[in-house]
Amino acid sequence: MFFLHNSRAFLFLLLAVCTSISSINSLLPTYNDHSCLNRPNQIAISSYISNQSLATLLDSLSTKASQSNSFYNDSNGGIYGLFLCRGDVSNDTCRDCVNYATKEIRSRCEFNVLAGNRSAIIWYDECMLRYSDSNFFGEVQTEPKEFMWNAENTTSGVDPYYGAKHTIYALLDAAVETDHMLFKADKKAVGDGTQLRYGLVQCTRDLNATTCRKCFNYLMTYFEQLQNRIGWRILAPSCSIRYENYRFFDLQSEATQPPPPPPTPPAPGVSRALSP
Ligand SMILES: *[C@@H]1O[C@H](CO)[C@@H](O)[C@H](O)[C@H]1NC(C)=O
Ligand SMILES: *[C@@H]1O[C@H](CO)[C@@H](O)[C@H](O)[C@H]1NC(C)=O
Ligand SMILES: *[C@@H]1O[C@H](CO)[C@@H](O)[C@H](O)[C@H]1NC(C)=O
Ligand SMILES: *[C@@H]1O[C@H](CO)[C@@H](O)[C@H](O)[C@H]1NC(C)=O
Ligand SMILES: *[C@@H]1O[C@H](CO)[C@@H](O)[C@H](O)[C@H]1NC(C)=O
Ligand SMILES: *[C@@H]1O[C@H](CO)[C@@H](O)[C@H](O)[C@H]1NC(C)=O
Repeated sequence: MFFLHNSRAFLFLLLAVCTSISSINSLLPTYNDHSCLNRPNQIAISSYISNQSLATLLDSLSTKASQSNSFYNDSNGGIYGLFLCRGDVSNDTCRDCVNYATKEIRSRCEFNVLAGNRSAIIWYDECMLRYSDSNFFGEVQTEPKEFMWNAENTTSGVDPYYGAKHTIYALLDAAVETDHMLFKADKKAVGDGTQLRYGLVQCTRDLNATTCRKCFNYLMTYFEQLQNRIGWRILAPSCSIRYENYRFFDLQSEATQPPPPPPTPPAPGVSRALSP
């Protein structure tokens, strides 16, 4: 029972348009989705204290982000939480995103706190934040997951295998084998070599290389359902994968190269679905 509103797809589209126009220095992170997990039958015995614990935890996470951490997991009063910023975003962007997320997750999932189920997740382009009243640190969690895709089909000429699959698997290998940040974003020439595809993969860093790989492998079981899309994402609590035909990340190593062409305008009807 998650939320699927057309208005939100529209909102996403609007945000995507706004951010690609104003692009730099936009302080509001780009919202993707959120989920509040309800456990209505359990009434929190000390909801006031839990509420305070959650507030304290979220404040602490926000502080950690302002101290230039791009990932942090912490617990307080039996509530466990973490944030993760996308591997390429600046310290300032990370701080702003996490700060905003801690407020938004409270207001969007407030009912959740009152009902005694203290488990929620919110995803932005720039960061994600989650908390739960059970200790999930180190566990591969792939639910709830969200699929997003561009309604446009792949342009002809690029076989999906050499496009998306090739690109993504190379990144997955690099992220778990060579990068302790469990993050990789890069471009790959596909088709006849003149077309570029861009991918980004990342795990929360409470995982290790082995469990991160496990998380990616699980998400990739959905690849065939997405392979004909020119762009798509799979977001899960422990890991995420994104693939596009334009550059959507910012890497230091590319700083000296000429700026990328403006992003493809989002196709009508960016679609999304939260799976249970
Ligand atoms: C919250 O409720 C959902 C469904 O009602 C349940 O699956 C989930 O385990 C609960 N959250 C926690 C942290 O137990
Ligand atoms: C929970 O905390 C928030 C923020 O501190 C506050 O606005 C809200 O009233 C609190 N709710 C309860 C039930 O204590
Ligand atoms: C971001 O913070 C980290 C950790 O403090 C630091 O190593 C890095 O240089 C900072 N990056 C920038 C661009 O200031
Ligand atoms: C990775 O984490 C899992 C789960 O916490 C643990 O069982 C496993 O031993 C860890 N692997 C390594 C290589 O540390
Ligand atoms: C994409 O391809 C599918 C199957 O090949 C087709 O049914 C659908 O109409 C196409 N969508 C667009 C937007 O071209
Ligand atoms: C963060 O998670 C790790 C497991 O990945 C755990 O060992 C560590 O204690 C956690 N840190 C805090 C502050 O809870």
